[in-house]
Amino acid sequence: MIGVGIVGCGAIARYRHVPEFATNPLSKIIGYFNPSSEKAEILASNYGGKVYSDYEKMLENPAVQAVCICSPNKYHASMSIAAMEAGKHVLCEKPIAVTIDEGEKMLEAAARTKKCLMIAHDMKFEYAHKKAREIVKSGEMGRVLSFRTTFGHRGPEHWSVNQSMNSWFFDNESSSTGVLADLGVHKLNLIEWLIDDRIDQIKAFSAVRDKKRENGELVETPDNSVCLLKSKSGIIGTLAASWTYYGGMDKSTLLYCSKGTIEIYNTPRYPLIVAKSENDRVCYTFDKQETSGIADAFLNSIVNGTTPAISGEEGLRALKLVMACAEAQAKDKTVTVYD
Ligand SMILES: NC(=O)c1ccc[n+]([C@@H]2O[C@H](COP(=O)([O-])OP(=O)(O)OC[C@H]3O[C@@H](n4cnc5c(N)ncnc54)[C@H](O)[C@@H]3O)[C@@H](O)[C@H]2O)c1
Repeated sequence: MIGVGIVGCGAIARYRHVPEFATNPLSKIIGYFNPSSEKAEILASNYGGKVYSDYEKMLENPAVQAVCICSPNKYHASMSIAAMEAGKHVLCEKPIAVTIDEGEKMLEAAARTKKCLMIAHDMKFEYAHKKAREIVKSGEMGRVLSFRTTFGHRGPEHWSVNQSMNSWFFDNESSSTGVLADLGVHKLNLIEWLIDDRIDQIKAFSAVRDKKRENGELVETPDNSVCLLKSKSGIIGTLAASWTYYGGMDKSTLLYCSKGTIEIYNTPRYPLIVAKSENDRVCYTFDKQETSGIADAFLNSIVNGTTPAISGEEGLRALKLVMACAEAQAKDKTVTVYD
């Protein structure tokens, strides 16, 4: 049984990680830390465990063998490094950090302390994505020629525990690149895995189109980004990330291949459609996904001493792509991404 400490008791802790660790037979939640303790108290009363008013005190408890970092992005690196230095395994939410330098320091800490560092990019565990990757790898659809991938919803003010326009998500220092660091990072991670290739050239437009603070001024962080991506082997595609899809969420990905199209989440009825022509379409449905798969993967890698399913290196790679998109926008030029 792995003792887990929860760090940051906001929306993702409440809706995903705490229920998933609490019900996993391999783990037991030992404690919670959140600067304002009432959010931690709610979780402790529902799932058991102690509320800590001090993060260091939680790290001093030997029963806490692993921590799950669910704090705002700017704290990911320092809190993860402190945990690994204290001998704890770390599951850290995405993005790995707010700068590449910080991400590299997290990898160094993991190597130095020999602790497991996993980043919570959950999309690879979704049944439709796993099946799509299997189909691409099988060669059944030929070569991937181009793609479009999208992740957009109404905005973090409808999700986060602070349901206001003063949320940390809209502050550059806390979130870094806004919607790119929040939603784009998921799809940048996913697309390289789906197409089994590395993105190496990027052009981008990012803008604050609509989100305003309570005082009516536009927020600092971009609420929309549209990027052009080219892979090493020449696959070209687009990434759209948005916090202003007010009509509903879009997390579709389309892979246009030499023998047809693989459509993921493009229609509500079928999460995956594999179309060789208009009359030759295989429509997939999947069992309800009960958990994100993140806690299982993290705990299994600790128990078995194996590399985590989404390593720190992979999280850093996704952040490098995010930063290249931000640089392409800032400099208005094509940016080459190096390994
Ligand atoms: N994988 C996913 O699909 C997914 C989805 C949503 C959020 N996230 C990530 O999870 C993290 C948290 O996002 P959220 O939506 O839960 O935000 P949130 O605003 O709902 O919650 C953040 C919580 O962190 C607390 N906090 C603030 N400073 C802290 C500190 N120094 N130490 C510990 N806790 C602190 C806040 O009080 C709040 O309770 C972010 O990094 C975000 O990118 C991932």
